[in-house]
Amino acid sequence: MGALWGGRFEKSVGSFTQAFGASLQVDKSMYSQDIKGSLAHARMLCEKGIISKADFDKIEVGLVEIENQIAQGRFQFDINDEDIHMAIEKTLIKDVGVAGARLHTGRSRNDQVATDTRLHAKDLLNELLAQNCALRSVIYAKACDNFDVIMPGYTHLQHAQPVLFSHHMLAYFWMFTRDFTRLVAAFDAADANPLGSAALAGTTYPLDRHMTTELLGFDHPIPNSMDAVSDRDYLLDLEYACSVSMMHLSRLCEEIILWSTTEFGFVTLSDSFATGSSIMPQKKNPDFAELTRGKMGRVVGDLVALLVTMKSLPLAYNKDLQECKEGAMDAAKTLHDCMVCMEGMIESMELHVPEMRKSAGKGFTAATDVADYLAKKGMPFRQAHEVVGELVLYCEKHHKGLEDLTLDEFKQANELFEADIVSALDMETIVAARKTYGGTGYEAVKVQMKEAEAALNAD
Ligand code: ARG
Repeated sequence: MGALWGGRFEKSVGSFTQAFGASLQVDKSMYSQDIKGSLAHARMLCEKGIISKADFDKIEVGLVEIENQIAQGRFQFDINDEDIHMAIEKTLIKDVGVAGARLHTGRSRNDQVATDTRLHAKDLLNELLAQNCALRSVIYAKACDNFDVIMPGYTHLQHAQPVLFSHHMLAYFWMFTRDFTRLVAAFDAADANPLGSAALAGTTYPLDRHMTTELLGFDHPIPNSMDAVSDRDYLLDLEYACSVSMMHLSRLCEEIILWSTTEFGFVTLSDSFATGSSIMPQKKNPDFAELTRGKMGRVVGDLVALLVTMKSLPLAYNKDLQECKEGAMDAAKTLHDCMVCMEGMIESMELHVPEMRKSAGKGFTAATDVADYLAKKGMPFRQAHEVVGELVLYCEKHHKGLEDLTLDEFKQANELFEADIVSALDMETIVAARKTYGGTGYEAVKVQMKEAEAALNAD
């Protein structure tokens, strides 16, 4: 059998153009969505008396058989079939005859491909949502298990103030929680039914679009047939959500890469999430964190590619739209796999608690609290800032930390200093004092952990 539109043509396209125009290699992964869409369309045609029950039964048996063949790798794909829609329909007609040839009544590949792509996007998003929760569970658990570990907090990558490791990890938890919301928004955007829009203008058959909406589990039918066949915004939403989440993963990866350096020495990655060097026997490289960081680029590339493809497209369907699927599938798979990788990497990552604790005290991280000490004794904060700034300068000149100063040295800087200044320099005390909502204090982080747990349970 030639192309399904053979009637109007005297010559067929050459083999190069045939392959060039095909999307089968990409869209064959949507076979189950295509069959689901066809079954719903056929059932509706039957209910509306447009095809007979006998024809519907044959179509149903034929489609179920084709689905099994594809699932079991027994289906013969033919590159002469441009896409999965043609491949399945052609085989159906070959298998069940004239009943199969009635399936495409009141339907175009334009609404068919839009339907399949939306169903596929919803499936991909469901997988991403599940994996997002798995990743957040591991981050949450790592924070719980290491609740009171102290590490340096940074601004400008310079030591700033001590923070709890759990607080640091929960910052990522909330990033990924917002990603969950963005993925849900993309799901909602995909959750509308284009089927029944036909090529662009609707159809003369009395189709029931609400029925196929119900059968396919869409939220509502798309109200404009021209918009329905040409809208790919939901793929942009998916790719945007994936891009932001990849950006968050790349930030986390960057930190893990830094933490695992000799300079930081905060963590050791499990052997299962590191590689060696072919020449340097001592090396343990954080390849998978680097790769995840690097893959952010391709996902953003997918987003930009689709935006540019959509720019200036006139209504309604244009073949340019065939290009939309591959990037979306790539973005979803990349994010999914990166989340799986990070889940295992974080779970198995070993913390070096004493090193983290020691590092937290370096770089005058108590300076703010020493200034607060003076301010709480009545000195205006700006003045206290100045006094402690000079103390830091003094320490640097004498190669000392604030904790190495004697009470005399403190008193030289200002009379308000008393013996209790020692406690202002204690990392645990400094952390504990940050009791404000959302702060790094033990009590505040406990409150935060409860909220994180509730967010995870709600998603
Ligand atoms: N292979 C096409 C795609 O994926 C299917 C729709 C083609 N429709 C058309 N009139 N050429 O977008």
